[in-house]
Formats: sequence, C-alpha cells, structure tokens
Amino acid sequence: MNPEGLPKHVAIIMDGNGRWAQQHKLQIALGHQAGVESLRDIIRESSDIGINTLSIYAFSTENWRRSEKEVSALMSLLLRYFASEIDELDEKNVCIRILGDKQGLPEPQRDAVIRAEERTKNNTGLNLCIALNYGGRAEIVRAARSLAQKVRDGQLSVEDIDDDAFSRELYTAGLPDVDLLIRTSGEQRLSGFLLWQCSYAEFEFPSTLWPDFTLEDYHKALELYQQRDRRYGGRKA
Ligand code: FPP
Repeated sequence: MNPEGLPKHVAIIMDGNGRWAQQHKLQIALGHQAGVESLRDIIRESSDIGINTLSIYAFSTENWRRSEKEVSALMSLLLRYFASEIDELDEKNVCIRILGDKQGLPEPQRDAVIRAEERTKNNTGLNLCIALNYGGRAEIVRAARSLAQKVRDGQLSVEDIDDDAFSRELYTAGLPDVDLLIRTSGEQRLSGFLLWQCSYAEFEFPSTLWPDFTLEDYHKALELYQQRDRRYGGRKA
C-alpha cells in the first residue's frame, strides 16, 4: 500500500448483509453479524495505515421500516459491538463520533453511544464516524435551521453563511470532506449518505457483499482511488 495519496476520509455503505445471509441460508441477523466481522477488520486496517476519518453507514432513518425482528437484531448487535470493541478502539486511539439523531435511538443504545463518544473524545487517531439513525437530507435541514436560528439571535449575519459556515453545522464539523466512498454489493446509489460531504468524492462500487469484503478488497479500492485524476472541476495545467 502506497501511503502517499491515501484518501483522508473514506466512507463505506456496508451493503449486502441480507443477500449474504440468504446465500448461506441463514437468518438475516447472522448476515449483519458477519458484517460486523468485516467492519472490525476494516476499522483496524484504516487505523493502522493512517486514514484520518472512516465513516460507516450503520443504520439509516429509513431502516426503521424493516421488520421489528431485524431492527431489534441490529439494535442488539449495536449494543454488543460497543461492549466488546470499546476497549480496543480506545487503546488504538480511535475517536468515535456518531452521525445522526441520537435522541431517536432506544435508551440503551443512546447511552452506549454517548458513553463511547465521551470516552474517546480526546483520542487523536482514526476518527470513526458511525452513522446511526442518519439521513443526509435531515442533516442538511438541521444545519440550515441552526444557521437560521443564529441569524435570528443576531450571532451571525446572512453574508457570513458560506461553505465553511455550513460545514461547521454538520455532524462531521471539523472533519475533512469524503475523498472515497465505497458501496459494496454492486448497488450504485448514495442512499442519502453524507450528501454534502461527498460533493467531490470518488466512488467505488465493488460487487462483493459486505460480509465477504476483505482487506484485499479494501486495498484494491484504495489503489483504484490513487489512480484517479481528481480535478475538482478544474483542469490540469
Ligand atoms: C445493509 O445490508 C446493511 C445494513 C442496513 C446494516 C449495516 C450494519 C452492520 C454491518 C452492523 C451494525 C453496525 C455496527 C456499528 C455494530 P442489507 O441488509 O441492506 O443487505 P441486502 O441489501 O443484501 O438485504
């Protein structure tokens, strides 16, 4: 892996857990559980190779529409994840940030994620953003409201509203924009993930289902990213 030109911010839509479970004739919950194994490897690797920020889409505002059984399995998995991983993440100097509406989470999950954020807030290694009860449009609307409120309170003038001021109101305030977005399982959609932050992101859509996504696949995506010619709308001299 050539450390030069690594993306600062990698975002991943971990898609395909359901199809993986189906392929293996297993319950969907076991597909998500297998997905957590992949996630563990990718987080370790991102931290080891010096990625600045890794954002993962764990649960969208639309995922509440799934069956009660699946939602409940995902919520239990989340609690187990924080209980079993927090020591290692903290030891690895990982700073956890939750993207999304924490107030809309069940109390045990809300408490667990708030504790994890609090415990790791001063860590200076990998920024691990976990999108939970997250929607990209809702995030943008929330930012617009907050700016409007600041104008109404006289803390901000309308002329001060620019890209930077807007970015500071997002869940990802202070973090770099997404450089590389990976969505597994062959689907080629953003599904509302980090809409503002993905403005100039490069996209990779490997066909691998998330539980089968290996470090080799991750390296491949990073290598392909390094071959991209990023012009940000400009032209090379
Ligand atoms: C998409 O696969 C995946 C999800 C909706 C959930 C992803 C969650 C995890 C990997 C585990 C939970 C996360 C943490 C941090 C513990 P899908 O079910 O939509 O797959 P399908 O399209 O094949 O049905």
